[in-house]
Amino acid sequence: MTSSDAVAQHYSGRGLVDRIMAALAKAGHEPQVLTPDILAPHDEFHVGGIEATHRFSGRLEITPDSRLLDVGCGAGGPARTVAATIGCHVTGIDLTADFITAGTELTDRCHLAGRVTLHHGSALDMPFDDAAFDRAMMLHVGMNIADKAGLMAEVARVLAPGGLFGVYDMMRVSDGEIGFPMPWAPHEGVSAVKRPEDYINAAEAAGLTLVAQHDETNAAEGFFQHILATKPPLEPGQTPDPFSNLAAHIRQGILAPTELIFHKAG
Ligand SMILES: C[S@@+](CC[C@H](N)C(=O)[O-])C[C@H]1O[C@@H](n2cnc3c(N)ncnc32)[C@H](O)[C@@H]1O
Repeated sequence: MTSSDAVAQHYSGRGLVDRIMAALAKAGHEPQVLTPDILAPHDEFHVGGIEATHRFSGRLEITPDSRLLDVGCGAGGPARTVAATIGCHVTGIDLTADFITAGTELTDRCHLAGRVTLHHGSALDMPFDDAAFDRAMMLHVGMNIADKAGLMAEVARVLAPGGLFGVYDMMRVSDGEIGFPMPWAPHEGVSAVKRPEDYINAAEAAGLTLVAQHDETNAAEGFFQHILATKPPLEPGQTPDPFSNLAAHIRQGILAPTELIFHKAG
């Protein structure tokens, strides 16, 4: 099995739309028309959820005229949130076919099909023209992509001169063993967690310049307190669930939710 097959298999799962609708119904909520806010607890697959999407996208100087690319868009939660908030057009691409199928249906149900288009494909070989986008964003995807140089080169290719590319990933910030499972990987074989410097070096080699860096560890603490409050306490010797395990690594200062913003010279 190739690494990209293993990554897609990790995230695959049919029936996501039905599961979301069942969860909404269980919460006493059966909307005729969905919105990104209603969907947010179910389709924003990164630390901090929709609040993080607003914070991060707010740093990318996106306007209603921007052509925005969402690299590794998942089921399209962040793409719909930004399209609905700012009014721009968002193109998403993701390796996991089930996410694109579900995400396209959710986009239709949000009446956002005119502003959000989702494609199945790899961030390392995107079916887009050179300089097709003014802005690009990537949320919690690089932890699954070992070829950071190839990723940065491909994003730099499709980004227009003067464009910005924001990365919001879980990054290694100190030595120490990373134990699995993590939300992005059941075992080390599908994980490619790197330090901020590895992203920055790969980006600079692709012609992108770092313009901002933010450690969002403090914001993650509130998010995890909320998530972990719903989980039973761990028994001694029990393998932690992926979210509890990630929270522990962040608290130990081994991993940090990190934003990097790059500029392509105009
Ligand atoms: C943790 S999810 C984040 C999804 C979305 N960005 C979000 O925040 O809701 C990681 C996503 O990265 C996608 N992914 C991993 N490697 C990829 C690649 N080489 N090309 C495109 N997508 C990839 C996975 O399929 C998955 O949907």
